[in-house]
Amino acid sequence: MNKRNFLKSSAAVLATPLLGSFDLKQNEYITPLSTLKGEALWKRVRQDYHIKEDYINLESGYYNIIPTPTLSKVNEHLERVNREGSYYMRNQLDIDRKKVTEKLAELVGCNANDLAITRNTTESLDLVISGFPWEVGDHAIYAEQDYGAMQLMFEQISKRHGIHLDVVSVPNHPKDDDEIVALYESKITSKTKLIMVCHMINITGQILPIRKICDMAHSHGVEVLVDGAHCVGHFDFKITDLNCDYYGSSLHKWLAAPLGNGLLYIKDDHRPKIWPLLADYEKDLNQMRRLNHLGTHPAYITLGVPDAIDYLNDIGIKRKEQRLNQIRQYWMKNLQGVENIQMNTPWSKERACGIANVGLRNMKPSEMAKRLFDEFNVFTVAIDYANVQGCRITPNVFTTFDELDRFSEAVIKLAKV
Ligand SMILES: Cc1ncc(COP(=O)(O)O)c(C=O)c1O
Repeated sequence: MNKRNFLKSSAAVLATPLLGSFDLKQNEYITPLSTLKGEALWKRVRQDYHIKEDYINLESGYYNIIPTPTLSKVNEHLERVNREGSYYMRNQLDIDRKKVTEKLAELVGCNANDLAITRNTTESLDLVISGFPWEVGDHAIYAEQDYGAMQLMFEQISKRHGIHLDVVSVPNHPKDDDEIVALYESKITSKTKLIMVCHMINITGQILPIRKICDMAHSHGVEVLVDGAHCVGHFDFKITDLNCDYYGSSLHKWLAAPLGNGLLYIKDDHRPKIWPLLADYEKDLNQMRRLNHLGTHPAYITLGVPDAIDYLNDIGIKRKEQRLNQIRQYWMKNLQGVENIQMNTPWSKERACGIANVGLRNMKPSEMAKRLFDEFNVFTVAIDYANVQGCRITPNVFTTFDELDRFSEAVIKLAKV
């Protein structure tokens, strides 16, 4: 469909009253997403979201709002857990969590015994960083572009256990995979025990060559902890194909599961040596459960994970990945060659997907984000550290080309100020 036709059809979508609460009975008669193709699919997906129309939301990187079909199922889970109360918690909770873990393991491509459902990436990665059997003088490597909370945990274990930290800086536009692999390899010493690396850097959206980094690290006897906060449900991959030792992700990001769901993968032979964040009654060192004590928690949140997986599977992860790449490259192309515009994310589909970062040479990122919101109703987030100056732009499956045009026009105007 050409741009003009799309604009017409997206206007038609916007004219359709959006469903405030999803009518399941009515929905039974709606064509399944899996049978829809091209723009008809994305038009329906947009209708599945109850969007606040006051601003254009280009900040799905924090967390993804969830579509109404998933939301209505989560409400049913909440009602059920509340109705059954302690009976549910004592008799059904463990059975349900096991089923959810199995379904999630199928999605991310690993053995269910190697997977735990956590509350978020922070909990998953901090468990490994803090629970690693550190010895005084050990070295660890991470990047200044990594997420702040994990860097803080490394600083804490450095003080607590006498660990040396080696910090790399990942270029925004690397020449090739080898440049990135060589960067991490250059910091490895005989004392290095662990590398933490982002699968997708959150401030730029750059995807790193994880498999190659893991293979290189293993050849030096070093283990790799992967921060995949943004990757599950975003693009197609299997954890075991990455050959990593540990992997953490947030399911409330691109899987669009309810807020407060994450995952932690630990390769089976590493499990016995890791200390838990919260001690559990399970004493078998091989059991993931030993590392996954939660205390009393909102169980219905986790019950929404399979519903989010069903919604994703209806779209298809390949189609979602292609769409997110298509819309990223669409707005990046709109801004290509414009004076004062600085792209902080590689163009290629191998190096990025839904997230990218654009800066203005004539304006600080904080001013750019503020003016985008105040003057053009475009919501983004300013990034101004670790060699990245710009706004992170995160559209979603519900974003229209019309919204991307309005965003691009706004940036072009600001670039001329
Ligand atoms: C790269 C990266 N790692 C970790 C996190 C932490 O995720 P959460 O707050 O869900 O624990 C984020 C959050 O945005 C992130 O972008």
